[in-house]
Amino acid sequence: MDIVNSQFVISAPNVNMCPSDNKPEFAFIGRSNVGKSSLINMLCNHKGLAKTSATPGKTLLVNHFIINKEWYLVDLPGYGYAKRSKKVQEQLDRMIRTYILQREQLVNLFVLIDIRHDPQKIDREFIDWLGLSQIPFSIIFTKADKLSGGRARANAKAWIDSLLDTWETPPPYFVTSSEAKTGRQEVLDYIDDILKK
Ligand code: GTP
Ligand code: MG
Repeated sequence: MDIVNSQFVISAPNVNMCPSDNKPEFAFIGRSNVGKSSLINMLCNHKGLAKTSATPGKTLLVNHFIINKEWYLVDLPGYGYAKRSKKVQEQLDRMIRTYILQREQLVNLFVLIDIRHDPQKIDREFIDWLGLSQIPFSIIFTKADKLSGGRARANAKAWIDSLLDTWETPPPYFVTSSEAKTGRQEVLDYIDDILKK
């Protein structure tokens, strides 16, 4: 599968304002600045489709992009951005969790992790919550261009292995770089498999 058509549809402040045409959707979540918006642009081969920024905290709404006129990619605000006021971050966290729990169209959530970082509590707690909530998800490691190929794969594997203390079956994972455009086809094929089910 390839993406031949991608268009911005709506920035919604909450789940009630999201599109209601019942098309399947795939959402991207992770810490602020991990590269969610950049990854959407890379997958769509569409620079500037989702707004990116070197300053964390850019994405504040639930952004829907319609793909090939049939399904959505959804850009979410990041979690765990320390420089936001506690109140704003709590409101965002609540909105994100409500979206994840209530959105029936959500067929898979991609949790993004910066491939350079050791496992962090905030990501682990979020992933454990997804497990408890029975939300289908997979992991995408980002910014692989910042490491050598071997180092990137080893870091990703070590990160996934760190889940094995409580996770019997770790989630599927992908190693990507929006800068070098790597991992694109693997992610698109994975999406295609889910859409065909
Ligand atoms: P928020 O919306 O603020 O939560 O951030 P985000 O997760 O959407 O991150 P965004 O895509 O805006 O990217 C953050 C920064 O990381 C930008 O400066 C990007 O250029 C950079 N970046 C994103 N992906 C990559 C990548 O694959 N490689 C490199 N080297 N930089 C990247
Ligand atoms: Mg963003």
